[in-house]
Amino acid sequence: HSADAQRTDLMTITRFVLNQQSNHPESRGDFSILLSHIVLGCKFLCSAVNKAGLAKLIGLAGETNVQGEEQKKLDVLSNDVFIKALVSSGRTCILVSEEDEEATFVEASKRGKYCVVFDPLDGSSNIDCGVSIGTIFGIYLIKEDHEPTIEDVLQPGKNMLAAGYCMYGSSCTLVLSTGSGVNGFTLDPSLGEFILTHPDIKIPKKGKIYSVNEGNAKNWDDPTTKYVENCKYPRDGSSPKSLRYIGSMVADVHRTLLYGGIFLYPADKKSPNGKLRVLYEVFPMSFLMEQAGGQAFTGNQRVIYQKQGEKQKISLD
Ligand code: AHG
Ligand code: MN
Ligand code: MN
Ligand code: MN
Repeated sequence: HSADAQRTDLMTITRFVLNQQSNHPESRGDFSILLSHIVLGCKFLCSAVNKAGLAKLIGLAGETNVQGEEQKKLDVLSNDVFIKALVSSGRTCILVSEEDEEATFVEASKRGKYCVVFDPLDGSSNIDCGVSIGTIFGIYLIKEDHEPTIEDVLQPGKNMLAAGYCMYGSSCTLVLSTGSGVNGFTLDPSLGEFILTHPDIKIPKKGKIYSVNEGNAKNWDDPTTKYVENCKYPRDGSSPKSLRYIGSMVADVHRTLLYGGIFLYPADKKSPNGKLRVLYEVFPMSFLMEQAGGQAFTGNQRVIYQKQGEKQKISLD
């Protein structure tokens, strides 16, 4: 039976991106090289996560990051791995990571035209109990006619050239958009390659799930409270929605992309700007959500049109 036969024509992520970029011969090689270094970081993390307990990687590292959070060992390790992989690609000029206080400016001899913003390990609170975690990244292209400055990365999300995430879950899944749709690749551990498994992901038009940390409800504003109330007690008599909340943005957004529904992390009285970080969490995920036919709002506007420093309450669906 042909459907059961072993697949022989493997669409790896490298092959896919090279095909996709064939219209842009000028950036073709550079982008694939950059991507292959991101992929290397993801494979390393996947392997580290799989043996986190065995390798004594669970637990705290003893430091606090720029967000004032305690860093986990895996936060620190994953940051080191991605920084080194990205610098050694020779294709990056500025790197901004959740775990580093300052942006990394790549030395001139290793410099390229891409800026990468990333959350090396998303969902830190889920490491020690083996729940899905991930890596989120966004890529900007800069003009090479000047010395790179921090302004080069402080751009709205709509200027991103590409964005993606890798989820270390029951399987390792990399979801990527280079601005023409969203595609998902699953790591085949025996090949060590990401193979196209989720071509052209489109978020379902209607979803039955809402996803939010309801433990913050006491501090929500009125519109948020009313919205969530309506998910549970719909005023139009329709069925209530189901609640799913993992607490790793990568996993909550991945489920939302595949099953539909809404994910939100609203601003509240405790964090008036919202908890999620605009540059390396909210922009990449919003870029993907829109590329998959969904929407991402701050409450006032499309997230990717937001300027840095503006209110960042968000919802993705
Ligand atoms: P990180 O682990 O990279 O610091 O990110 C955690 C973020 C995000 O993954 C998640 O959606 C959110 O924090 C969960 O926050 P709560 O635990 O407050 O629900
Ligand atoms: Mn963190
Ligand atoms: Mn995160
Ligand atoms: Mn993180």
